[in-house]
This record gives sequence, C-alpha cells and structure tokens, in this order.
Amino acid sequence: MQRDPVAKLLLFGATGDLAKRMLLPSLYGLHADALLPAGLAIVGSARQPLDDAGYRDFARKALDEFLPADRKQEEAITDFLQRLTYQPADLSDEATFQPLADKVGDVSGGLAIFLSTAPFLFEPAVRGLHKVGLAGSTVRIGLEKPLGYDLASSREINDTVAAVFPEDRIFRIDHYLGKETVQNILTLRFGNSFFEPVWNARGIDNVQITIAETVGLEDRAGYYESAGALRDMMTNHILQLLALVAMEPPARYEPSAIRDEKAKVFRSLRLMTAEDVKATTVTGQYIGGAVKGEIVKGYDEELGKESDVETFVAVKAHVDNWRWQGVPFYLRTGKRMTTRRSEIAIQFKPVPHSMFVGRGGLLQPNTLVIRLQPEEYVQLLVMAKEPGLDRDGVRLREVPLNLSLDAEFKGARRRIAYERLLLDLIEGDQTLFVRRDEVEAQWTWTDAIRAGWAANGVRPKSYPAGTWGPSAAIALTERDGVTWQDD
Ligand code: BG6
Repeated sequence: MQRDPVAKLLLFGATGDLAKRMLLPSLYGLHADALLPAGLAIVGSARQPLDDAGYRDFARKALDEFLPADRKQEEAITDFLQRLTYQPADLSDEATFQPLADKVGDVSGGLAIFLSTAPFLFEPAVRGLHKVGLAGSTVRIGLEKPLGYDLASSREINDTVAAVFPEDRIFRIDHYLGKETVQNILTLRFGNSFFEPVWNARGIDNVQITIAETVGLEDRAGYYESAGALRDMMTNHILQLLALVAMEPPARYEPSAIRDEKAKVFRSLRLMTAEDVKATTVTGQYIGGAVKGEIVKGYDEELGKESDVETFVAVKAHVDNWRWQGVPFYLRTGKRMTTRRSEIAIQFKPVPHSMFVGRGGLLQPNTLVIRLQPEEYVQLLVMAKEPGLDRDGVRLREVPLNLSLDAEFKGARRRIAYERLLLDLIEGDQTLFVRRDEVEAQWTWTDAIRAGWAANGVRPKSYPAGTWGPSAAIALTERDGVTWQDD
C-alpha cells in the first residue's frame, strides 16, 4: 500500500467531547511513537473563541485527564502541543471560512480534514470549504457520524459532499473498524483454513452479535433523542461486524476488494415488512435500577421528560444469499445493561448423530466466541469427557479452547481505534472507512424497520437498568430454540 501523507490536519469539533477523549489522545499517541509525518501541523477549530495558546492549554488539560499514566511523557506532550494552532469557526456563517483558509495556509503538501458536526451543518461546511480553496485535489475529508438519520438525509449529505470531494477522497468513519479485534475477524476467517468449510448455512446454526454498554444517556440528550439504539449502534457498528462475519473472501487486502464484499452483504440483508417487524424486532428503554451495584436513574428521568426513544434494540436479521440461507443473525445492543461487552458468537450445527445418548452423555453444539471488548479473546467451545471411570454413564462437558489475544500479544501496544483511523486518514488508506454504497444499503435496511415500527405503533418496553434488556428479547431467540450467549 502506497502511503501518501498530508502535511496538515484540520480538526473541526476540536473542543468537543470526542476531541478531548479520543482525538487529542490519539494524535498524541501517534506523535509520541513518531508515527505522525514529521512536520504535520494540526489546526483545531470550533465555535469557542480561543487563540493558539488557549487551545494548547485546552489540549494539555484533555491529555492530563484522558491519557493513561504510562503514556504521559512531559517532553513528548510539550512537543506535541507545538503542532497545535486554533481558529474559531461557526460553520453556519459563510464569513468564517476565509479566516480559516488563511490560518491553514498553503495546502499543496496535502490537507486532511476531520469533520464531525450536526447533519444540518455538512452542507454549509462543505460549500464554505470549497469556496475558499480547502477542497482541492490535495485535500481529503474524514466524516464522523451521524451522517444523516435515514436514507434520504444520508443521500443528501453524500450528494453534498460528492459535489466537492470525489469518493476516493472521502473517509467515512465507523470507529468500530479501527478496533484491533474487529480487524482480527478478517485474519481469523481468511488467515486460517479450517473455518471456511463450515462457515455457511450447512455448518452454522445461528450468529449472535451483542454490543452491551453500562453507560446511560451521558450528556448527549440532544443527539440521542434523534437517534436511538437502532440508528446509533445497529445501523453502523453492528452491521459492520455482521458484514465482516458474513462476507465472501476478498481477493486482496485493499480498499475496493474489502468494501465490495461488505457492500454485497448489506445489499443482501432481508428488508423487513411491517408484519416481519412485529415478530423479529424488540425495542426497550431502561428504567431505574442498579448497574454494577450502583443505583442509576431511568432514561426518562435522566432526560427530564417522557420519551419513546429506544435505548435497547434486538433484531433477528437474515442475509439472503446462497451462503447464509436460513441462518438467523441475532443482533442486540443496549445502554445500561448488566455489563459492558461487545461479542460475536457463532453457533455451529449439532453433530448429525450422537453416539453418547445411550450412555447418558449430552452434547452441546460448538460455539465460537469472539470477544471484542473489554477483554480480547477468541474461544472455541468444544465437548470433552469429564475424567472418570464412566460406570454411571459418560459425562460430557463443554470446555473452552482459548486464544487470549491480551495474553498472546502482551507486550504489544493496544491502540485506540481513532489512532488507527486518524493515521489512515492522514496517510490516505481507505480500507477501514465506509463507502457510500455501504452506508446507503445500511440505511435502506434500517428505514424498513423504522417504517414497520411506525406502522405498528411500536413503543419500547421497559427494562430495569443493569439487566440484559426486556424479556421479549429473550423470547426472540428462545422461540427458535436458541439462547443468547450471556456468560
Ligand atoms: C458511538 C455511539 O458510536 O459508540 C455511542 O454513538 C456508544 O452511543 C459508542 O457509546 C460505543 O463505542 P465503544 O467503542 O465504547 O464500544
């Protein structure tokens, strides 16, 4: 892969929560390991009226608060802060762009823009950048979600951006793709020969994907009320995981080959009718309860008003192609759940005949568990005989064949997803960014579900904080004789 690093980075939303928690610590991490282009200048921009020194102070505080202690090196921090300058900007105001362009200066050496903003500001932002020469052939743009709230609005944003930037200079971010364990799904599937022969409807009974969080609304009422769990997590992160599990083997590790295969999966997702939605989706909203021993408020209470927005969603999805015919993909995500966990569980078909029945031995189908976070491991659950003389019958037990990535790669630095993605944006590698056709196919699937909810007047069912969601989510799989992989 040929790297084509830019000389400048323009960071919109530079004083926001994402910048404080993720972007600044990530850029610093890259700087400290000498991975940023030597002269890379970083211009921060947001509405706040700060000057360069004010922004460096701001960044220093953010690093103080969010860098792990073992990453704090005073010399490297001071050095990193020297890369930063700041220009206040109000993206809704046309007059904001010329001073911004003056601050950024010459872009002939390449400029990467990181744009994270409310959907209604994409248009003025892109138009303004274009007008002042910040969208030419040496400029690439990274777009952070939410990129719309349905297919129509996402198309509008995509059209707006496409009017100025060609697709090969647009980098749509799904931060799950920046996670090491998520990328590892590709290696697991396509770097080993023994999975592929059973990786289909003949070998696999069902697939479960869970992203459970313990956090609640945090300070994001404005955004979350316009999104809900389906659009905040499932349309993007969970569907990306699904695509990596379900895709055909790409011929090469390169952007088009990988994104072509993912897009095919998204286009094969079965679109639900209003009738399907009743039986194959469950929505929930948390009420007060206890998470990890701590009493927490319900969503409505946190919000200060009643709301119908779902904080939990479970869906039984299907990928209608040859490989996956008849295999349910059970997907779920929620806030204020029992524990924080992102996991994929692949449940294989049972053996065709059990020779142990007559001797009392019970078999369970094999399961492959890919734990993405907080721990990182791959576990294959296999059957083993318990030690003993078997005079009262054969006792069989499910035991894990364990690959702990944490332990195996103990010395290796685990990077924040944004370190990888920012570096790829700076160097121009699109492999881990989402292409327009992927996003639009994701929204097509989501819109059908939301239309079904609207047609059926679906309202989220309550679930106490600190649980695995409403009981209907358990019924969703149990009806098919399947149990969520919860331990
Ligand atoms: C974001 C969502 O995209 O992902 C948040 O907007 C969610 O609501 C977050 O909390 C989860 O990311 P992670 O990396 O902590 O699993």
